[in-house]
Amino acid sequence: MSIKPLYFDRNENQYGPAPACFEVMRRADIELMSIYSRDFQRGVKSRLSERLAEDLGVEENAVLLGYGGEDILKQTVHCYLGKGEKIMIPSHSWWYYKSISDEVDGIKVEYPIVEGDEEYEYDTERMLALYREHRPRVVLISSPNNPTGNSLSLPDLQRLLETMKESVVVLDEAYWSFAQEDNTYIRDLHERFPHLLIVRTFSKYYALAGIRIGFAVMGRGLVQLAQFSARYLGYHRLSEEIALAALDSPDYYRDIAKKMEQDKEMFSRELGSIPGFKVFRSQANFVLVRIPEEIRADLKAALTDRGLIVKFMNEELLHSHMRITIGTQEQNRLLADAITTIMKDEVAA
Ligand SMILES: Cc1ncc(COP(=O)(O)O)c(C=O)c1O
Repeated sequence: MSIKPLYFDRNENQYGPAPACFEVMRRADIELMSIYSRDFQRGVKSRLSERLAEDLGVEENAVLLGYGGEDILKQTVHCYLGKGEKIMIPSHSWWYYKSISDEVDGIKVEYPIVEGDEEYEYDTERMLALYREHRPRVVLISSPNNPTGNSLSLPDLQRLLETMKESVVVLDEAYWSFAQEDNTYIRDLHERFPHLLIVRTFSKYYALAGIRIGFAVMGRGLVQLAQFSARYLGYHRLSEEIALAALDSPDYYRDIAKKMEQDKEMFSRELGSIPGFKVFRSQANFVLVRIPEEIRADLKAALTDRGLIVKFMNEELLHSHMRITIGTQEQNRLLADAITTIMKDEVAA
């Protein structure tokens, strides 16, 4: 009998979206599915961009929409980074940053994210030094960062932005909202830093990865990107309506975030007490765990046999680590128990 796998490997939100999102699909009609939006006649992109602008306190034309954060990141790099120009990216980061830089033959300058006692940390001094040395066209910062889970503090970000004024600074906040509720800083940063792009998504916190919708708040100096990304026939109308329903369901999502916080602590406590394991503090919906390198293959095989699919990192700097996406409480219990049992009975035997 084959087991239905449980996926802890791609930072999806297994709780699923708010009930109101399914309601939108049940109500979908010809207008929504067969007809182009006419919102542009009102001088806006859509009801979604209007709503996001209102919620975040910025002007509607500062809101950029796209097919997930992925699409917006790709568009930004393709718009600004020319062949042979430099882009700063974190040493431990989502592989996609390197991939889009390579697509345009950009030169990658990696800045370190360093391992602290409890969590990984940005080294802002080093970032500033590298910035002065290389004068990159684009700087990519991810907060919380994937796969390390750490965030950059607001004072540190402001310091970086003050110095990096000659570059396009992209702040990828795909994992925002799990540990922080505050959005008020966006308006302030938007007022002060015309070279800043803040990228967010409905995929993670709102559990809507399948409907492919992301957005960004675009600094006033990024006119070229506004033109590059303009879509004259509108966006995905059904996805936009679903996203609006998600924004109208804050209690549903806060409850999930609370459960995830409890389970991150549970993983930290339980896996952290296995000899040789270290669980790093995370502000996202995943935790990075360092494991003894010699047990990596056996643990991976034993988990896969049980249908528990975890991401075992395979990178130069992170080859004895696994990244666990936080699932539902029931799924997390199963995984933590399985790892504990495997370590006691099989791998360590
Ligand atoms: C750091 C980071 N940014 C952006 C994304 C993009 O997600 P999406 O395209 O679904 O919005 C991901 C997806 O895993 C990610 O890990």
